[in-house]
Amino acid sequence: MCGIVGYIGKQKASTIILEGLKRLEYRGYDSAGVATQVNGGFELAKKIGRVDGLMKATRAQKLPGTTGIGHTRWATHGGVTDANAHPHISSDQKIAMIHNGVIENYVGIKKFLLTKGYTFQSETDTEVLCNLLAYHYQKEPANAEGSRFLEAVRKTLRHIEGTYGIAVMCADCPAEIVSARKGSPLILGVGDGEYMLASDVSAIISRTQNVVYLKDGEIVHLTAKNFTITTLESEDVSPVIDKVSWTIEAAEMGSYAHFMEKEIFEQPLALENTMRGRFSEDGSTAVFGGLNISAIDFRQVDRFHFIACGSAWHSCLVAEQLIERFARVPVEVDYASEFRYRNIPLSKNALFFAISQSGETIDTLAAMREAQRKGYKVLAINNVVGSTIAREADGGVYQHVGPEIGVASTKAFTSQLLVGAMLALYIGRMRDMSFSSGIEYVKALKGVPDLVRETLKLAPQIKDIANRYAHYHDFLFLGRLTLFPVALEGALKLKEISYIHAEGYPAAEMKHGPIALISEQCPSVFLVSSGEMFNKVLSSMQEIKARKGKIIAIVSANCELPEGLADEVIRIPECHEAALPIIATIPVQLLSYYITVALKLDVDKPRNLAKSVTVE
Ligand code: AGP
Ligand code: GLU
Repeated sequence: MCGIVGYIGKQKASTIILEGLKRLEYRGYDSAGVATQVNGGFELAKKIGRVDGLMKATRAQKLPGTTGIGHTRWATHGGVTDANAHPHISSDQKIAMIHNGVIENYVGIKKFLLTKGYTFQSETDTEVLCNLLAYHYQKEPANAEGSRFLEAVRKTLRHIEGTYGIAVMCADCPAEIVSARKGSPLILGVGDGEYMLASDVSAIISRTQNVVYLKDGEIVHLTAKNFTITTLESEDVSPVIDKVSWTIEAAEMGSYAHFMEKEIFEQPLALENTMRGRFSEDGSTAVFGGLNISAIDFRQVDRFHFIACGSAWHSCLVAEQLIERFARVPVEVDYASEFRYRNIPLSKNALFFAISQSGETIDTLAAMREAQRKGYKVLAINNVVGSTIAREADGGVYQHVGPEIGVASTKAFTSQLLVGAMLALYIGRMRDMSFSSGIEYVKALKGVPDLVRETLKLAPQIKDIANRYAHYHDFLFLGRLTLFPVALEGALKLKEISYIHAEGYPAAEMKHGPIALISEQCPSVFLVSSGEMFNKVLSSMQEIKARKGKIIAIVSANCELPEGLADEVIRIPECHEAALPIIATIPVQLLSYYITVALKLDVDKPRNLAKSVTVE
């Protein structure tokens, strides 16, 4: 949530920061702002709305200076107003701050600061933190050893409960930025004669591929010439400089109209990258290099726990079914936000998987830490290399699908489905799955990218359907077994970007309540595959039809539907059951995308949402 950018170097800071903010905008877009250091003070511009609006507003205002900080906000404390936008400046004009996260004890601190004469322009928790820093800075002895500014930041942060990724400048310290994190992502870019700070790599990749992934409790002190990293307890940290493996093109839209469209259409390649090098030479099982757990220990696991949020949670529901079916090991799936506060009895040989595209979702991170605190290993399935979850996990699987910028998850979701399917194979082959079933399973997974390519050819048909259905206000998504989580995903996709009310249900469960919604005004999207459930799903479709509900059926190629039962029929290729949820996801992604385009809404940045949710 929220994007942070800092720059210190020889170039005009505001230009570089605005470009970085534009790339981070998907993280939060309630307001944007920049502050630069100029002649012992700050130049400030901030405004509600998008970065483009801020860019226009700042055209007249030159915003000079070679040191600066910028922010895109996802409001937690205080409405979406210019005053609440970051950066915040302390009432004594000494400190400028941007912040990602939530300061939980801000009310008490604010009361204290009011008694000391500090005043407030906004309703945010951030402005309180900013003034607390000003207070500690003015108390810090001027002749102290080391940087008085850095020491004041350290003292301030020791009083803070909550989460933060901050970057701060001090009016008395030209060409200096101090930045720190606890629970919010922060990356230092080490460029040629310049440094950048950012919430994620996409903001800095156009200037440098050399990055330091900062850890919780670390503070980085930047000057124009060098940087140091220390901890809250003043210990020195030796920085590890990593090289980012992707380039700026991966984070650009190219010829597509939206990132979501690009990310839907690049799924064949993304899925190939997820699988690359991950099958055994004999082609009968999956191999994972980074699980950090021996095959023997893996074999001892008596229950898997999957924890995640949102789309990633849907992918866990599919993994659960595949692992239980092919490996016969029980699986529990929990919302990470619930797991962390429940006290679930756990067996001795349980193993956890935390699934997160961003690797920064605070609920997932907290649930993972809770499992680790109880002595369990947690493996991560994660896309963003160097993310907090990836670093804190005991091992895991990187998805390798490249940056996902659209707020609605697409390629990361199908890749999570694929990793889940590969895990079911890996665990199954350690137990009763035969060599020949393994060979057949691997063949099926290797064929997924081509099947996705074929399914994407349905785009014109689905666009036409979307144009005809975009005016409805309610949708049901219905499927059985592994197509039930796909129904949940279809409903989430539609509601998050088109704001149309949609619900996902197991097809048979529909008659226990949701059927009351059915009328000519509420279409149902059915996910139908050949196999054991086919006739049962047909009955559910008949029940909807009998109540005049319109039906859009996404059906496997060989299914024969009774004439006139479905109003629209979208045929997807027949495939192995481990591949089915991936293939069936493509049409629901396209449907929600084209409906949203037809409604002329902001596909990539839907209202109220942010790409990675780093607050509780
Ligand atoms: C998906 O379209 C959503 N925007 C959201 O549900 C997302 O999947 C969820 O916030 C989890 O994110 P993560 O995978 O980065 O942890
Ligand atoms: N809590 C701060 C605010 O509401 C920061 C929110 C964010 O992370 O964008 O302004």
